[in-house]
Amino acid sequence: MTFFNYRDGELHAEQISLSSIAKQCGTPCYVYSRAAFETQWHSLNDAFDDHPHTIFYAVKANSNVAVLNILARLGSGFDIVSEGELRRVLKAGGDPAKVVFSGVAKSRAELAFAISNKVRSINIESVAELDRVQEVAAELNTTASIAIRVNPNVDPETHPYISTGMEKAKFGVTMEAAFEAYKKAAQMPNIDVHGVACHIGSQITKTSPFTDALTIVLDLVKRLAKEGIQIKQLDLGGGLGIDYQGETPPSAADYVKSMVDGIKAQDIDLPIGIEPGRYIAGNSGVMLTEVEYLKHNDSKSFAIVDAGMNDLLRPSLYQAHHEIIPVNKNTDETAKTYDVVGPVCESADVLGYDRTLKVKAGDLLAVCSAGAYGYVMSGNYNSRPRPPEIMVDGDDMHIVRRRETLDELTQGEAILP
Ligand code: LLP
Repeated sequence: MTFFNYRDGELHAEQISLSSIAKQCGTPCYVYSRAAFETQWHSLNDAFDDHPHTIFYAVKANSNVAVLNILARLGSGFDIVSEGELRRVLKAGGDPAKVVFSGVAKSRAELAFAISNKVRSINIESVAELDRVQEVAAELNTTASIAIRVNPNVDPETHPYISTGMEKAKFGVTMEAAFEAYKKAAQMPNIDVHGVACHIGSQITKTSPFTDALTIVLDLVKRLAKEGIQIKQLDLGGGLGIDYQGETPPSAADYVKSMVDGIKAQDIDLPIGIEPGRYIAGNSGVMLTEVEYLKHNDSKSFAIVDAGMNDLLRPSLYQAHHEIIPVNKNTDETAKTYDVVGPVCESADVLGYDRTLKVKAGDLLAVCSAGAYGYVMSGNYNSRPRPPEIMVDGDDMHIVRRRETLDELTQGEAILP
């Protein structure tokens, strides 16, 4: 987490101390670093050098409009999975011509909105969806630019919940069915065959699953060319992993090089798109929380904090590890092993098991690597308002989403007459 560092024992985001943010904004809260988002994005973009490419940031990872706007200013494209995400991209100043639309269950209304906005590609996930896209485009009297999202049946060697490219997953179209679907698409009057898309999973920490999938995708591209169907873009999905706990994923340079080399080796010269989410956002944010109480049982000690699984779901849902570190290292407390638990009435509401910490009630902790799939997966379970999001930019901080209020929790609800 390059942009989150200790100075005189105090954890800072860029130039701003996290305790000053907690004082001003309260806890729990998410704190992001603009420089971190930009550095991650540039590292991928620069790695392509002069190879034609587009980075489609996966909006689902962190969809705050400030984040999207920061990336749009860099010229980023976006990978979306709903009309809501497309509306966010447009609001943030993103260019719909640099948007790809993934997802297995796109509704007619969502497709109509995306096609009218002329997104670069509808990434089609079933033959039934292809038929629907043709119908919607015909009704709008226009053409829809599409890719078929293929499922190469490659094991990304990651958590099963975030593995998408295997045959038993609901995502994508199997290779043989995709070949037939392209032939069908090429005959459809309101369809423009633009690309091939593929996304095999998330938090992938080796290059081999990516290159294995690429080989299969390139094979399809060559078969299609023989049928007279020219693919204009390869969209190779997201999935590049990050360091949560000492993992050593490939660098952006190695990851990109493996793909560029892979296509050159096959004499294929196509623009590459990638859909990174976690790589750009994950280590660009932390969640700040305050210790409410310490509690010691015969067998366990608990640090009970004010953030719970409704604020950061990953540990409960995926047994994901997030480092938990003190905001202020200057303390006289002695180190003890704690389960760091939240306020939600669920035994799964644990942010971290067996963490060695020197803490007392009132201390602040930072839950690391929370910039991706953090706030976006938060909810109101136990009627807990969702936390604010703060963007640090050098020595400035901006509240990019204010804390939800208790009154807002019942807005939209009604009692019977
Ligand atoms: N493209 C598509 C089509 C995807 O489904 C995803 C993620 C991405 C790109 C971005 O993948 P990334 O670069 O972030 O790995 N909530 C889970 C992650 C779910 C990922 C779903 N799809 C988590 O917290 O680990």
